[in-house]
Amino acid sequence: FLSQIGPDAHMRMILSKVPGQRTPEDLEIIYDELLHIKALAHLSNTVKRELAGVLIFESHAKAGTVLFNQGEDGTSWYIIQKGSVNVVIYGKGVVCTLHEGDDFGKLALVNDAPRAASIVLREDNCHFLRVDKEDFNRILRDVEANTVRLKEHDKDVLVLQKSLRPSSHGNVPAHFKYTVMSGTPEKILEHLLETMRLDIHFSEPDPALDDFVLMHCVFMPNSQLCPALLAHYHSQASQGSEQERMDYAVASKRRVLSLALRWANLQAHHLLEDDTALSFLEELYGFVSGDTRVLRPLRELLPELEKIIRQYPDDARTSQKKHKVLLRQFSSGEERLAKKHPIRSFDDILLKVYCGDHTYTTIRVPVLATGREVTAAVADKLGSTEELLLISLSSSGEKLILKPNDVSVFQSLGVNGRLFVCTREQLDSLASLPEQEGPSTGSMSSFELMSSKDLAFQMTLYDWELFSCVHEYELVYHTFGRQAYRRSTANLELFLRRFNQVQLWVVTEVSLCGTLSKRVQLLKKFIKIAAHCREFRNLNSFFAIIMGMCNPAVSRLGQTWEKLPSKFKKFYAEFESLLDPSRNHRVYRLTVAKMEPPIIPFMPLLIKDMTFTHEGNKTFVDGLVNFEKMRLIANTIRAVRHCRSQPFNVEASPASKNPQEVRNYVRQLSVIDNQRTLSQLSFRLEPRRT
Ligand code: CMP
Repeated sequence: FLSQIGPDAHMRMILSKVPGQRTPEDLEIIYDELLHIKALAHLSNTVKRELAGVLIFESHAKAGTVLFNQGEDGTSWYIIQKGSVNVVIYGKGVVCTLHEGDDFGKLALVNDAPRAASIVLREDNCHFLRVDKEDFNRILRDVEANTVRLKEHDKDVLVLQKSLRPSSHGNVPAHFKYTVMSGTPEKILEHLLETMRLDIHFSEPDPALDDFVLMHCVFMPNSQLCPALLAHYHSQASQGSEQERMDYAVASKRRVLSLALRWANLQAHHLLEDDTALSFLEELYGFVSGDTRVLRPLRELLPELEKIIRQYPDDARTSQKKHKVLLRQFSSGEERLAKKHPIRSFDDILLKVYCGDHTYTTIRVPVLATGREVTAAVADKLGSTEELLLISLSSSGEKLILKPNDVSVFQSLGVNGRLFVCTREQLDSLASLPEQEGPSTGSMSSFELMSSKDLAFQMTLYDWELFSCVHEYELVYHTFGRQAYRRSTANLELFLRRFNQVQLWVVTEVSLCGTLSKRVQLLKKFIKIAAHCREFRNLNSFFAIIMGMCNPAVSRLGQTWEKLPSKFKKFYAEFESLLDPSRNHRVYRLTVAKMEPPIIPFMPLLIKDMTFTHEGNKTFVDGLVNFEKMRLIANTIRAVRHCRSQPFNVEASPASKNPQEVRNYVRQLSVIDNQRTLSQLSFRLEPRRT
């Protein structure tokens, strides 16, 4: 029998049988055939035996036959047994050709997404082995190849990897999905739009999309993203019935609109800083309003887009920009009492810039001003024609020459740092201002009368103001280097600087406290304040205080620590254990995981996490965006988002006799930021034992 009709024909005959009617011999023959198929090579023999029972033979006679169209629901997975097919994408045409032994069509099945491409026969008489969705899900979904590489014109454009995704609906179990590992920016965008779930509202979190929306500036700036989104908005199906083409168009538009809204919501005031972004939204609004007349499903999203655009009407845009806010936050200690508003790139800032003789000029420059612009503004005021250097001078006399091209140069100032200009000849003799040294007497007499709880509360209030001003994008710019993006990270810098300031406050007060018994009181006070900070879930100030107490200038004061009541020693030991860096700060991470927002996190650690991820992973691998890295950094940013997901309850303020006084005090901490001075003071308090 076999010799009469040939092994291929026999095989085909068996495969054409309804799976239920295959005999054990049939299954054995199919199984043998499967052992030789490239697309199955990675699967176990058990899986192959199972497949033998469900594979269906499908053949088509004519080149040009469409197996399925892009945008349709996926019903099957295919292996090419004979012949070849073209992979066709709307707007791109044929992107690649698949041959005997290749497989296709599993993306839609695994991701429950529409077909990412159409498959068209490239020659007559092609043979396929087909596995239908139900069987695929049962037998293959979880054991399928871990990595999928999609090619266009012989180059990898998207690398996907299967990973276990927790289900977003509580009762459906977690299952495997393909997630983007790397890809070209355009293909990543295309894939995310395609696999986006339209049943999730744009205001709800959707991790895959959030990764992209948060991180796109690293690999696809707005100038590239906005036109690409518009192109997808207008994407047309070139195949299928009229209804199918209509459905495809509506779905594309909804996807783009939904992503654009997600993106615009995250941008917030950053929209004002970028003309491309706003004009894109307006253009999109124009298209959508035109389309809603015929395409009802778009209607629900139109008002949302309108709401965003309304926030930034033309006149407000210009007047907002004209009405620049004047900031003094960085000009040494002034205006700390004012309620904080986010610093925007187009705001102006007042800077005090000193000369060698300690006279100063005050200049007004944009927040984004470069070193060159600051120097020019000073030279202009001074009427100087000499070539001036711009220096960041620390209290210890350390000089940092600021680069002419660097933006927002004032951000590099330390707690007591000041900006100076001088000529190259004057550089050596440049000395810091006496005021940079910080206080010569402690302020204990004023804050010992304030309750520790009040102090902690007011500190937390201030931290919240600073923390709330930090935009998520600042974390990205900070990690990847704000210079590269020409963006300001001023709000983040102020928040980080506050951490240092609180830490130094503790060291300064202790080092300036000459009486042993008073010093013991001080330590007790700081431990109490730290405990209250933790109660208010303000881990940033909590750690700042504990780290201040760990500073050698404080920790070496043996006589003082000895006198500390054991109750306080125990508290301190417990707090200190939270600082333990072993196993990647495990103790701290477990503590935070147990807390509910609102939380002020230990920001320097989050910054370190992002920097490590950035430095340890390339942004591009083989010319493709390393999206896995983007996801890791986005995860940390989401941790920050989680902390702020609930507002801090200002009403919870403790009953206080003197809230205003406490408030003013915590916002104007004056400190010594020179470690050498602090150590010297400490040795004077308790000389080294001989
Ligand atoms: P799926 O989306 O289910 O249907 C179309 C299939 O084409 C897709 O799965 C992939 O298996 C396959 N394919 C091959 N190359 C590409 C490509 N560059 N882009 C999209 N799909 C591709």
